[in-house]
Amino acid sequence: MTIPESRVRVDLGSRGYDAVVGAGLLDSLGERVTRSAGSGPGSRVLVAADDGLPTQTVSRATRALEAASLKPILHRVRALETEKTFGTLEQLLAAMAGHALDRREPVVALGGGIVGDLAGFAAAIYRRGVPVVQCPTTLLAMVDASIGGKTGVNLLVQRAGTPELQKNMAGAFHQPRLVVADVEALRSLPDRVFRAGLAECLKHGMIAADFGDPGLFDWTESALARILARDAATLAELVTRNVRVKAAVVGRDEREEADEGGRALLNLGHTFGHAIETLPDLSPDGNPASAPLQHGEAVALGLVAAAACAAAAGRCPPELVQRVKEGIHRAGQPTAVRGLPPTDGLIRRMMHDKKVLAGQLRLVLPAALGRAAVVADAPREAVAAGIDAIRA
Ligand SMILES: NC(=O)c1ccc[n+]([C@@H]2O[C@H](COP(=O)([O-])OP(=O)(O)OC[C@H]3O[C@@H](n4cnc5c(N)ncnc54)[C@H](O)[C@@H]3O)[C@@H](O)[C@H]2O)c1
Repeated sequence: MTIPESRVRVDLGSRGYDAVVGAGLLDSLGERVTRSAGSGPGSRVLVAADDGLPTQTVSRATRALEAASLKPILHRVRALETEKTFGTLEQLLAAMAGHALDRREPVVALGGGIVGDLAGFAAAIYRRGVPVVQCPTTLLAMVDASIGGKTGVNLLVQRAGTPELQKNMAGAFHQPRLVVADVEALRSLPDRVFRAGLAECLKHGMIAADFGDPGLFDWTESALARILARDAATLAELVTRNVRVKAAVVGRDEREEADEGGRALLNLGHTFGHAIETLPDLSPDGNPASAPLQHGEAVALGLVAAAACAAAAGRCPPELVQRVKEGIHRAGQPTAVRGLPPTDGLIRRMMHDKKVLAGQLRLVLPAALGRAAVVADAPREAVAAGIDAIRA
């Protein structure tokens, strides 16, 4: 069965671009890069490729570039948070400079969110900016990281004598010329990484009513069996609908400047999630061997906590908590975790979140299924109720 390609416009005026979603798109990557980045025959293309990708996926992309008379230069990138650093960025920039790439020769980011963020940042600053085409290969990168132009690296910061990895502390907004999401690439994705992306899809479902897709959460839940079986047509629909939501959010608030109704809504579940993500001993299934939590698992728990907090604050109907829990459980993600530290300590950790403004905890809380709002004055007891809801 051939799966029709779908195209979502990320409407940002002169910085606008398309995200194309389909199966087998990497085989026509060359023409797509030529058209979107304006690369002429013989132009070189720096392909920053995720080292976790099967060789076959990488060679499909490079062969397609060659077939369009482009000259790919392959640079492998290790997809590790600890290596999403200025050191790795510098190696990438040095490779570009070593080949004397000019300002019109594009970068192709082929990989998960780490590679997309690093290669996007390199494209933002090499010779003060060159075109980038994002080719996401994880579910999270397809539905989230590749859309919207946020690029960057982590910083290792000394706090009270202890080194702390601060995520995405340095970066730039640099919109891609095109996003190519080939769902066939998802076949090789490890199960736990795939499910982490699914948590972000459920998060989109919890805000999608204000961005044109009120039925997204229900549809995702009903399609879970086909999604988890990685049925290509269902994955294409999942990615397309989620890209539409992300594109609509970004179209309204490109640089996360709006106080309400913009990119900040994408932090639903993240303030709770960040507070537990870096606790090394927490495990999604109670088995110490599965510790620590992955980002998506922390977000899944954060979504439950946010719903419980909203219900305790009287901001959403209590039934919503159960609804959210069911969806997350059916997606194979944790809804509660053993060994959470005391609530006071966790609230203090939440206060360290970069979204805290002038010492005030700003939470994104659901109001109904598909709707959420930024809340600056959630009572402490409601925040505590959110945390207690995810204690196993
Ligand atoms: N720029 C943004 O707007 C934005 C948004 C969300 C997240 N992010 C960033 O994205 C990163 C997380 O991205 P992620 O979830 O894609 O994880 P990731 O980039 O860490 O990739 C996860 C793992 O999957 C492997 N992999 C990638 N594609 C594969 C494939 N097709 N088959 C087999 N293995 C594959 C990678 O090698 C890695 O081991 C974080 O650094 C986060 O800060 C950025």
